[in-house]
Amino acid sequence: MATLTGRRVVLGVCGGIAAYKAVEICRRLVDAGAHVTPVMTQGAGRFIGETTLSALASEPVRSSLWDDADPIPHTRLGQSADVVLVAPATARLLSAYAHGYSHDLLTNVLIATRAPVVVCPAMHTEMWEHPAVQDNLALLRSRGTWIVEPERGRLAGGDTGTGRLADPARVLAEVHAALDGGSAAPAGHPAPHSDLTGVRVLVTAGGTREPIDPVRFIGNRSSGKQGHAIAEEALHRGAAVTLVTTTDLPVPKGIERVRVDTAAQLRSEVVSRAPGCDVVLMAAAVADFTPVRVAPDKLKKRDGIPLVELEATADVLAELGQGKPPGQVLVGFAAETADVVANAGAKLRTKGADLIVVNDVGAPGVGFEHDTNEVLILDRSGEQHHVPFAHKREVAGAVLDRVSVVLHRAGRSDEEQT
Ligand code: CTP
Repeated sequence: MATLTGRRVVLGVCGGIAAYKAVEICRRLVDAGAHVTPVMTQGAGRFIGETTLSALASEPVRSSLWDDADPIPHTRLGQSADVVLVAPATARLLSAYAHGYSHDLLTNVLIATRAPVVVCPAMHTEMWEHPAVQDNLALLRSRGTWIVEPERGRLAGGDTGTGRLADPARVLAEVHAALDGGSAAPAGHPAPHSDLTGVRVLVTAGGTREPIDPVRFIGNRSSGKQGHAIAEEALHRGAAVTLVTTTDLPVPKGIERVRVDTAAQLRSEVVSRAPGCDVVLMAAAVADFTPVRVAPDKLKKRDGIPLVELEATADVLAELGQGKPPGQVLVGFAAETADVVANAGAKLRTKGADLIVVNDVGAPGVGFEHDTNEVLILDRSGEQHHVPFAHKREVAGAVLDRVSVVLHRAGRSDEEQT
């Protein structure tokens, strides 16, 4: 993982209620050893004082193209940055950046830099969902800008929806990932990581729900966060991504989302799509058992404790492993609590996967429901890659790095045979 020590971060802050969170982000960057130069837009000044950011950052706040001793702050800041982070980014900033409208210092820095750029949008749900905003994001994404999707939660007006600035820990994780993957991009800002350009990727995420009656189900603790992070990272690297998910987590435009609930629905959506894909990542926690019958009406307590008869579900990963087209990379996931490596190695072999990503869900902060993870990736040759404790987006990057290696190895051996 890239260290922030000594790295030059330009922190752009726009005028939105979430500007106050930029203060915390700035503090965390400085604590991590980064050299932070804050750049505030005029609107940001209506929400937080320059003094606050200047006191916490490594340099005083810049906010103007003109009132600076440095005659060319826009090019100097952009050229010397290792990463430019905009948090929060308003709809206006996204539009200006997407279309090269460099009307103030921050947009000039963004246009002048060749460093990776991480933008963290925050706005009301209606604005976030507007096609103009989503189109601008798609344009920025296609140029390799790192987009940190906003989260769902309470918004400034008291209503609830998607649009809340991403959690500072997630923002920092994306800055790390951008520094890892985004070394000096040449003019034109192509994607810093475009190793999956044109690759068709299918990802499953979340835990399936097996209904007992109209209100009850058998479920599991999978949140879907790791699968969603993999889908987002694959999109960022240029892949054409389909995400079969049991969750309602936000999904960036550009990912085809297929919503499922049960193991049977997941199987049917995956089995029909998998033959057309280059990579299939089975991150979903698929139920192993399902009720034989679903009661048509709610089971009543007065009728006594129900005996729910279960039957085994189809093992989707094993089925995909059996019918795998040549060159396809199949990735299984395993959540284990004991004999982690031995159990995962056995699953890799019996299910016919190329890679298996295993986590020890007994360890603190690892696996289900957490934003963080620590995994081991096993391949068929017996090689093991340890991915240390990190945000799930970074873990997603490490998983796709291994996928990319296997994919290109498979491509090479296909070429050798022809
Ligand atoms: N999996 C699947 N279909 C199932 C169960 C699991 O495709 N019915 C996939 C998961 O998506 C995951 C991998 O198999 O990629 C491993 O899942 P896991 O539940 O850990 O393994 P199981 O085979 O169910 O083994 P066990 O419950 O004995 O640990």
